[in-house]
Order: sequence, then structure tokens, then C-alpha cells
Amino acid sequence: METITLETKNPMELFKSWYAEAKSCQDNLMPERMTLGTMGKDGFPNARTVILRGLDDAGFKMYWNKHSQKSQELEINNRASLVLVWIYRTLEGALGFRQVRVQGRVEDLPQSEVDAYFESEPDIAKVRAIVQIQSRVITDEQREEIRRKFEELCTQVQENHIKLECPQGYVGCFLRPSMIEFYQGQRDTVNDRVRFRLDDGNSCCSEATLPGDDGWKSENKEEVNRSVKHNFDNCQNQPFINKIRRPNPEF
Ligand SMILES: Cc1cc2nc3c(=O)[nH]c(=O)nc-3n(C[C@H](O)[C@H](O)[C@H](O)COP(=O)(O)O)c2cc1C
Repeated sequence: METITLETKNPMELFKSWYAEAKSCQDNLMPERMTLGTMGKDGFPNARTVILRGLDDAGFKMYWNKHSQKSQELEINNRASLVLVWIYRTLEGALGFRQVRVQGRVEDLPQSEVDAYFESEPDIAKVRAIVQIQSRVITDEQREEIRRKFEELCTQVQENHIKLECPQGYVGCFLRPSMIEFYQGQRDTVNDRVRFRLDDGNSCCSEATLPGDDGWKSENKEEVNRSVKHNFDNCQNQPFINKIRRPNPEF
């Protein structure tokens, strides 16, 4: 049975270790793919896929166009959520699931960091960022125009080696988490959840709450009937990478 054993009381450290394991999967499952949830002006939640482009001890980095719907929504309400899910096959042949849910507030990254990130991107991604119009309804003519600009810029890059500058409106955002939940599931056994909340002095008072590092508190949830296993000192989980097998095509 897989339970979440905590090598650290800091959820960002645990995230880094799960993410590294997910990334070392030989099948390209795009482990950096995640769902970003924002709140629409009409009160409906909005979710879409984005790529996790950077990570540090304080949170998660993403890039997009400031005219996009998500960007506009975050300007009004900077509270957001992220969901990452990794599905793999264990050495025993069972399906394994890992999910990480995050809530927090989003802030802008400094322009110098955005420029540096853009510079590090491959040319094709730069060209795409330059020509794309995010979240706007476009006519057939505009679509053709975007395609034409795309081809033209690609040719210029290939033939004339022009340097592509970071376009206006290309922004980087940083989600600073206040809640991170780790879910370890398997189809043929029980599921395990550990939730961390930033200790702001008045939240998270359940009995299962355990003290963590850097202001975090954690609580352990069981998805089915069993006694909660929660041991900070126990670190006997096999590395994730050892459990990964080719995904079952029928799944
Ligand atoms: C696998 C995948 C990765 C994506 N990554 C990004 C991303 O990193 N940044 C981005 O702006 N849009 C990304 N998109 C497109 C978004 O899902 C979305 O369609 C777009 O950003 C417009 O969303 P909005 O109108 O809610 O702002 C990605 C889509 C897919 C399918």
C-alpha cells in the first residue's frame, strides 16, 4: 500500500520531490501540465491548462499574455488554484495516481525575469508568443494574417537569424501558495491525502493538524476506512521513478 510519507514538513520541498519523480518518467506524460482555476467576472470558476514554467521555494511560475481572459480575471481577483495529476503504472502493474492541489494568490513576476525567460525559450515558442492573440474572437482574415506572420517570422529567424524580442503583453505570474494538498491513490488499494495550510494563526484547527516548517500546518485525510498513517520521520516510500511503467493503452 502506498501512503504519503513525509520527508519534510515543508510542502514545497515535498512538491519538488514529487515533481522531480514525475519528470523522470520515460514516457512523456507532460508532467508540467496543470489546470489553472480563476474566478470569472460572472462568478463562474474558469479552468484551463497551462504549463508550470518555474518553481522556487515560495511558489509556481507561469507565462501568458496579459490580454488573456485569465490575466484579466486575476487582475480583479488574484486568488487562483492549480491542479497537477500524474498517472503511472507501479512495478506490481497497478495503476498509480498522484494529484497535487494548490490554492494561493497570484502576483506579477518582474519584467527582468520575464525577459530572461523569453530569451531562454526556443525560437518556435518565441514566434508563437509574438504572433498569437490570446482569448479574443478573431475573423477568418485575422487567422490567415496570424498564420502568414508566423510563417514570415519563422523564415526570417531561419534565414536571417534575427533576434526575437519579448513582445509587449507577455507576462509572467507567480502563484504563492497558502494551501497545498498531496493525494496518493491507487486503483487497487486505498488513497491517502495530506493537506498543508499556511499557518496564519486562525485557520486549520482540526485535531489531525500537525506542525510543519516555515509556518505550514498539515492534516492527513483518509479516503477510505483505515487508521491515519502520518509519520514525519518515516521515509520508506520507493522512489516514484521505480514504479513507472508504460501507461496501459486501454485505460
Ligand atoms: C497542454 C497545454 C498547455 C498550455 N499551456 C499554456 C501556457 O503555459 N500558457 C498559456 O497562456 N496558455 C496555455 N495553454 C492554452 C490555455 O489552456 C488556454 O486555452 C489559453 O491560455 C487561453 O485561456 P484564457 O482565455 O482562459 O485566458 C495550454 C494549453 C494546453 C492544451
